[in-house]
Amino acid sequence: MPLRLFSRILPFAVTVPLLAACSRGLPNSSGGSANREAAAEIHPPAQLGLCAACHGSDGIARQAGIPNLAGQHEAYLFQAMREYKSGTRNVALMRSALGPIDGQQMRALAHWYAAQPPCPESMATK
Ligand code: HEC
Repeated sequence: MPLRLFSRILPFAVTVPLLAACSRGLPNSSGGSANREAAAEIHPPAQLGLCAACHGSDGIARQAGIPNLAGQHEAYLFQAMREYKSGTRNVALMRSALGPIDGQQMRALAHWYAAQPPCPESMATK
């Protein structure tokens, strides 16, 4: 049992430092730095903790199969959340993740993730 638990945790231990390096290692292009400034201006939404285990607090996914949200269009992220919540996008995982989140909080989360610096494609986990 402890061994099984360990092997489930291990991939996180290995990927998290790599992914953290990703968000810091961006070239200082104008788009990237504008994004970084925007990220510095806004405060993390209180509900971010409900998403961070999978999407990261910086929007860089923590596991393969989970989309990066960093730098994605705000309106797209908000629309996607509404579709999960209503069941138009029928994904039980995301529906339950958004269960306690109301419309205003979804907007704040979309705003937050849209402002995070995106990960270079070569380093994405997908
Ligand atoms: C248990 C892991 C998990 C948690 C927790 C979670 N998500 Fe997700 N999320 C996923 C997966 C997996 C998908 C892809 C689902 C699909 O196939 O459409 C996804 C998709 C999304 C998408 C659509 C991205 C796109 O490119 O279309 C958004 C937006 C999103 N999540 C926001 C959130 C927010 C905001 C929270 C916190 C309230 C959250 N998620 C919590 C796993 C998670």
